[in-house]
Amino acid sequence: MKHEFPQDFWWGAATSGPQSEGRFNKKHRSVFDYWYDIEPEAFFDRVGPNVASNFYNSFREDLKMMKSIGFNSFRTSIQWTRLIKDFETAEVEADAVRFYNEMIDECIANGMIPVINLHHFDLPIELYEKYGGWESKHVVELFAKYSRVCFDLFGDRVKHWTTFNEPIVIVQGEYINQFHYPNLIDGKKAVQVSYNLNLASAKSIEQFRLSENSKDGKIGIVLNLTPAYPRSNSKEDLAASDFANKFHNRMFLDPAVLGYFPEGLAEIFIKDGVMWQYTEEELELIKNNTIDFLGVNFYQPLRVKAVEHEFDESKNGWLPDKYYEYYEMPGRRVNPHKNWEIYPEAMYDIAINIRDNYKNIPWYVSENGMGVYGEEKFKDENGMILDDYRIEFVTEHLEFLHKGIQEGSNCFGYHLWTPIDCWSWMNAYRNRYGFISLDLATQIKTIKKSGYWFKAVSENNGF
Ligand code: GAL
Repeated sequence: MKHEFPQDFWWGAATSGPQSEGRFNKKHRSVFDYWYDIEPEAFFDRVGPNVASNFYNSFREDLKMMKSIGFNSFRTSIQWTRLIKDFETAEVEADAVRFYNEMIDECIANGMIPVINLHHFDLPIELYEKYGGWESKHVVELFAKYSRVCFDLFGDRVKHWTTFNEPIVIVQGEYINQFHYPNLIDGKKAVQVSYNLNLASAKSIEQFRLSENSKDGKIGIVLNLTPAYPRSNSKEDLAASDFANKFHNRMFLDPAVLGYFPEGLAEIFIKDGVMWQYTEEELELIKNNTIDFLGVNFYQPLRVKAVEHEFDESKNGWLPDKYYEYYEMPGRRVNPHKNWEIYPEAMYDIAINIRDNYKNIPWYVSENGMGVYGEEKFKDENGMILDDYRIEFVTEHLEFLHKGIQEGSNCFGYHLWTPIDCWSWMNAYRNRYGFISLDLATQIKTIKKSGYWFKAVSENNGF
């Protein structure tokens, strides 16, 4: 075999509670539930999270199907808005405890390691309305409380936890680029929220270490690392990529792994009058509560150049765009369905960066994948989607990952986004990502060609 992976390598896929479960029996609303209720037309084809992929009802069948295509591990998330009845006291909902218990047990019964994430863009709307959501340190405390409940309830069986999925996307979506409710443009709040999310992750880790159940468990965070490649090696382009790297990647990666923020970043925020509020005790807490392992989501690189049009602060106030502009590299390969660049080489660069600059911490690819619009047209006569493009995409990324592992990077797994086609926020069911297709009207689930291919990869521990 050409590409053999390390022993006990994780093969599987990831989803999240809000994107797969459906809102069945859920008593509270997340910012996305709420946004859909007040503005359904903001979502592709007006499809919201109400039913999603019905995982709340069909988890047993779904998990069996995942097992049948070779998974030995699976990530999903607990919904704060499902589990908790009272956010202040962290009192729980009995039905949610039943559901998560049964789901976790079923996962283990199928021989899959459950990886449980605590927050996947699904802030309770009440906490936004009452306190300003992640702008508030009280909400940080409530999150720590909620996470402790999760560790105490499920940590006897769940040995791999992650605090947040893609915290920078919360910052971008809610405070910069308007794709998560409340859709603000406010750079100063974005900076405070970035800090608060780091603090929330560290406080959650602190709670984990205090829980009885943490002794043989591990905790991490899932970050979407988008290496910021400069247009050229000019001083200006390099400065632009350095800032972009700090803002998009290192603002979360450095505190999570090393315990402190990247040098120079706070200085820029101070100079520009947007510095976050912090205390020395909080910085100490961040320093003392770093992760055991890292999850890396990778879809596309970030290509940047020096600003060409002077940034106009009178328009929307301070924004990180002051320091770089996006660069569309001529001749780049793209996935036409999302206009995202395909650059599997980045997988290797990420592996080496973690090896050399982040203590070679154990990590895994927690999401990678390809969203495709109109996949039904690739169906064969038995209803199976022939997604050779996905097989090719995953193969290429695995090849570069393998090279990084060969050179000593400590990667222990690969998860596709996603097992079964799921609800993708504003894009709803526009682009499909799964190894298993979903017929939205009938909820019939069918393994795609890539699913059978993946089974063989998993069984051979390589290809
Ligand atoms: C990621 C996110 C997932 C999923 C995916 C595909 O950024 O973690 O929730 O939506 O993108 O678009």
